Amino acid sequence: MPLPFDGAITDYYETEAPEAVRAAIARAGGDRNRLIGAGFPYARRMQKAHYKSRLAALQVELAKLQRWARDAGARVAVLFEGRDAAGKGGTIKRFRAEMNPRIARLVALSAPSGREAMEWYFQRYVRQLPAAGEIVLFDRSWYNRAVVEHVFGFCTAAERAHFFHQVTDFEKMLVDDGIVLVKLWLDVSRAEQLRRFLVRERDPVKQWKVSRIDVEGLRLWEAYSDAIRETLGRTHTAKAPWCVVRSDDKRRARLEAIRAVLARLDYAHKDAEAIGVRDPTILGGPELWR
Ligand code: ADP
Ligand code: MLT
Repeated sequence: MPLPFDGAITDYYETEAPEAVRAAIARAGGDRNRLIGAGFPYARRMQKAHYKSRLAALQVELAKLQRWARDAGARVAVLFEGRDAAGKGGTIKRFRAEMNPRIARLVALSAPSGREAMEWYFQRYVRQLPAAGEIVLFDRSWYNRAVVEHVFGFCTAAERAHFFHQVTDFEKMLVDDGIVLVKLWLDVSRAEQLRRFLVRERDPVKQWKVSRIDVEGLRLWEAYSDAIRETLGRTHTAKAPWCVVRSDDKRRARLEAIRAVLARLDYAHKDAEAIGVRDPTILGGPELWR
């Protein structure tokens, strides 16, 4: 049976991708340690041994956070947003690796079903919000309406305007009610995104994960950029700020994403030394997103 999008990404790379993007990928050859995004602050990935030891220390902190959340009845919601292949799934996996799946719950909703499409847009997300003692990790979120639904025409302009009209009040209500809301935007460069898609297309397991949205999205890079810029600009509020994580280097991105969450909570036995210092070239606010 032929694959659903057999060769579509390679075709795009060979015939349509911007010259600078193609050149960046070609220059790296097969060297996965070489970072290729224009203007990325590092030339190479973080060394694996260093990454592993930092990650292990941060996962101990996440375990403490989990214990504290359960004992204190805290409610924590973390949104993972970003373009396709930004690394949301892989980052969430590292968050949850040493955590109890009942406490650190994953929410990855598919496209709204018939019934859901007839509800208030936020309704199905509200059902998934954390109860006391829960940490909910959202792999994509209500921000679908502002970006992917808009870019692909799955919602009308009026629906999107209505979303923007409601979202800051919606988030303010959650935060006022005591939910800790952390909004992470994983930012991948155009060259790195395409390189990841090429790897996926050639991998017999991963090629099945390539979706129509991924393939058609390649040509919609600029439309995505406009939608993302507008979204970060309109929804970065004092009560619910965005953390931008530059994610071309998955290792640095995962460490900084965990740091961003730990920084927001005053859990018992917090160890500042284990957390380490934030890398301001990787983790910051919307000013980091170009
Ligand atoms: P993922 O990135 O989660 O692997 P896709 O790249 O296929 O999934 O789709 C990106 C997002 O677009 C998903 O959150 C998906 O639910 C959403 N989406 C896809 N089709 C529709 C649709 N018809 N209406 C609304 N949202 C959709
Ligand atoms: C990601 O890698 O950002 C997501 O987990 C999945 C995807 O890219 O489609």
